[in-house]
Amino acid sequence: MFFRLKFLVALTLLGLGSQCLAKPTNDHEHHWERFKDLKKCRYNTSNIGAICKGYIRIHRDEESLKHALAAVGPISICVVAYIEDWKEYKGGVLNIPDCPNTTKYISHAVLLADYGQENGMDYWLVKNSWGESWCEKGYIKMSRNKNNQCGIATYATYPIV
Ligand SMILES: *[C@@H]1O[C@H](CO)[C@@H](O)[C@H](O)[C@H]1NC(C)=O
Ligand SMILES: *[C@@H]1O[C@H](CO)[C@@H](O)[C@H](O)[C@H]1NC(C)=O
Repeated sequence: MFFRLKFLVALTLLGLGSQCLAKPTNDHEHHWERFKDLKKCRYNTSNIGAICKGYIRIHRDEESLKHALAAVGPISICVVAYIEDWKEYKGGVLNIPDCPNTTKYISHAVLLADYGQENGMDYWLVKNSWGESWCEKGYIKMSRNKNNQCGIATYATYPIV
């Protein structure tokens, strides 16, 4: 499990999401081109934007996550994504009261971009990796301050570059 999580984290940090089908033209700008040959992951070292020297794991609570987000910027997180709910998600703040918060159920690596409040509901703004056509330009609002719902703060990390 731990290995799988590390792998997911690494993929998010590389901006690959769930697919490794692309060629970076520039690490900074994330220009990825799709290739017909899906089995090959091509990487051109002359376009390296930053070298990852390690990573920091954020303490498992939403307050620490908020501070890290404010201080560092976007944070790599892993969440419990009930795929059916996510597929049907059409906007607003996703609230799944019985969504677990333990590593056991964590299934999806995403990027935490921001936080806010909408219609009295606190939310985390999360960038998914399913393209811009998904939901609100590729983003989902997940519940915030609801006992770490869907494990939003359970496996949060950021790279040291
Ligand atoms: C790698 O990128 C550099 C700079 O953009 C380019 O000149 C070079 O041809 C690329 N190499 C490969 C193998 O694509
Ligand atoms: C996980 O959820 C449970 C039940 O809602 C809650 O008591 C607990 O504090 C949560 N754990 C974390 C790390 O937030």
